[in-house]
Amino acid sequence: MTDRLTIRRPDDWHLHLRDGEMLKAVLPETTRHFARAIIMPNLVPPVVTAADAADYRDRIMWAKPKNSDFKPLMTLYLTEDTEVRDVRAAAEIGLIHALKLYPAGATTNSQSGVRDFKKVTRVLETMAQIGLPLCVHGEVTNPEVDIFDREAAFIERVLDPIRREIPELRVVMEHITTKDGVDYVAGGGDTIAGTITVHHLVINRNHILAGGIRPHYYCLPVAKREEHRIALRAAATSGDPTFFLGTDSAPHTDAAKLQPCGCAGCFTAPNGLSILAQVFEEDGALDRLEGFVSEYGPRFYRLPLNDGTVTLEKGPPVEYPAQIETGDGPVTVFDPGMPLYWRVVD
Ligand code: NCD
Ligand code: ZN
Repeated sequence: MTDRLTIRRPDDWHLHLRDGEMLKAVLPETTRHFARAIIMPNLVPPVVTAADAADYRDRIMWAKPKNSDFKPLMTLYLTEDTEVRDVRAAAEIGLIHALKLYPAGATTNSQSGVRDFKKVTRVLETMAQIGLPLCVHGEVTNPEVDIFDREAAFIERVLDPIRREIPELRVVMEHITTKDGVDYVAGGGDTIAGTITVHHLVINRNHILAGGIRPHYYCLPVAKREEHRIALRAAATSGDPTFFLGTDSAPHTDAAKLQPCGCAGCFTAPNGLSILAQVFEEDGALDRLEGFVSEYGPRFYRLPLNDGTVTLEKGPPVEYPAQIETGDGPVTVFDPGMPLYWRVVD
């Protein structure tokens, strides 16, 4: 039986770090295990220009633990006013690694998102030309579409038409939550990849709603039926390089989560790797964990693999805090609902 596992140091291809006090408190939870992360730009106001991204990167570098060589991979929030020149220049100097498409109103802080996709065609064409990936939050926001159907509707109404119009555009369909997402990405050739979160491998919609409402499991895209969770697990553990880790670790204070209209987001940075090791072991795929967390992401983003390693060891249940303290208030850590046995030791 394997009880020790050394893998190449992982990266997180979708992460919310926030700003100010929250940034300071949550960043060490990621830098402890991950070498790099794609940093989501949905601050208020959002990170829309190269200058915004450079400033935000500086604040992250300043907030990070002094002994850490963590590298934030910056992104811009795509708006109808995004300028081709700005994107091109920021990509050329290696400042940004993707643009993020939020359909307007899809999720936390997405008011500035795109309403009319025709208005961003020139930017998308430029991205296709220079190979800069488009990260998409794959949900439509039309009020008449049921929240559980929004991912499938996005593929059909938005994503597929964009990809047909601009076939060279490289797309990461982020935090996929459905079998439809898995199938679309798997059958989409080498211009598309899909990221999968930690929590969507563990919870289905019953965890949020059955036997009482559990706001800490509410995230967007919302967890779906069990059959979808099973499809996500199969994709993650398959060894198919089209699927890789993007935790979507999205901290909100308990005060913001626990209210009549609570925020969406699961905070998985502290225990994400322990959970993943367990998930992969349960599915008999521990040997495929490294590909999912450390290899397929850089391959799609055309970045070098990390040099360092992390070692996980299996032993008595891992202890991790139920909450972390931040200057803005406590943030609850995602509860996988099972004891975890794999700990990161090195
Ligand atoms: C994210 C957040 O809080 O910024 N929330 C979430 O549930 N994932 C936004 C997002 O990525 O949708
Ligand atoms: Zn996110």
